Amino acid sequence: MSVRKRRLGNAPRSVLPVGLGCMGLSWAYERSTDEAAGIDLIRRAIDLGVDHLDTADVYGPFTNESLVGRAIEGRRDRVVLATKVGLVLEDEATYRYGRDGRPERIREACDGSLERLGVDVIDLYYLHRIDPKVPVEETWGAMAGLVAAGKVRWLGISEASVAELEGVSRVHPVTAVQSELSLWTRDYLTEVVPWCAAQGASFVAFSPLGRGFLTGAISADTRFESSDFRATLPRFRAEAVAENQRIVERIRLLAGRRGATPAQIALAWVLAQGAHVLAIPGTQRLRYLEENVAAAGIELTPQEIAELDALPAPVGGRY
Ligand SMILES: NC(=O)c1ccc[n+]([C@@H]2O[C@H](COP(=O)([O-])OP(=O)(O)OC[C@H]3O[C@@H](n4cnc5c(N)ncnc54)[C@H](OP(=O)(O)O)[C@@H]3O)[C@@H](O)[C@H]2O)c1
Repeated sequence: MSVRKRRLGNAPRSVLPVGLGCMGLSWAYERSTDEAAGIDLIRRAIDLGVDHLDTADVYGPFTNESLVGRAIEGRRDRVVLATKVGLVLEDEATYRYGRDGRPERIREACDGSLERLGVDVIDLYYLHRIDPKVPVEETWGAMAGLVAAGKVRWLGISEASVAELEGVSRVHPVTAVQSELSLWTRDYLTEVVPWCAAQGASFVAFSPLGRGFLTGAISADTRFESSDFRATLPRFRAEAVAENQRIVERIRLLAGRRGATPAQIALAWVLAQGAHVLAIPGTQRLRYLEENVAAAGIELTPQEIAELDALPAPVGGRY
């Protein structure tokens, strides 16, 4: 693959700009694939050269890690394996979850993740959300202990502010910050993305396709099953989806001019936010996977970036 790899934060590893978010293969979204197909997709991704897989203990819960574990058997050394800790599902039907950042829970959860993934060491271990009941430095200290114990290689954190990042990095370096970044979610561009660049950390953009919306696949007529996480999100209510079509229409126009798909333009814009930015789109389809990986080869012109920067803000909050 001719796409240039990007450094994974302070780690002595580089990865392709586009990795694979595995969540949707067993959780959150309507599934067209069964478990065997999910395993097959991950294996095909690795064979294509995808070298960064993202999961979490809460996805499923637990089943997504097991799926990834089975998929990487015999291929483990070809990927940077990232998982997360700190969220606990409280109600499956409504996706309500709590946060648990107690050091003892972190240590116990890590052992569970290692077992499900079938590995001796997790490459990138993220704190999924900060638990307001526990000082984040304490949680992070427990995670640093896992690095010292050889169970984890590098640490990351999801949805943290610069103040929180400063606090944890005094305890142990931050290799990656994973937060939402896409054409319709730009909150972290002002402070956190520049902080990562200055500190030599990677910024890993989750939901870079706006949970599928920015690809143009979702219209006001789309009906989500009640088990689909998007049914709980304000931006995916029918009225908001109808309003937000004006964002997709403009992405589609630009994509047409470039001979690319809207998904590829959305990913190319994310990757244009800095050489330290990585994207982990999720998909259940090989065709989309290939398309997403190829998006790393699309270099947008300054005019195209300005055009995308000027897209209207979305209607509806992200959670
Ligand atoms: N840290 C966190 O708190 C957090 C939160 C959310 C997600 N994440 C991570 O980020 C990863 C990606 O996020 P996400 O899955 O929420 O959203 P996403 O990557 O923005 O969007 C995924 C959706 O886009 C569709 N899609 C993918 N490629 C496409 C293409 N080329 N053309 C048309 N449609 C396409 C997928 O459809 P199909 O499934 O039908 O292929 C799926 O519905 C997750 O897997 C997870 O690892 C982390």
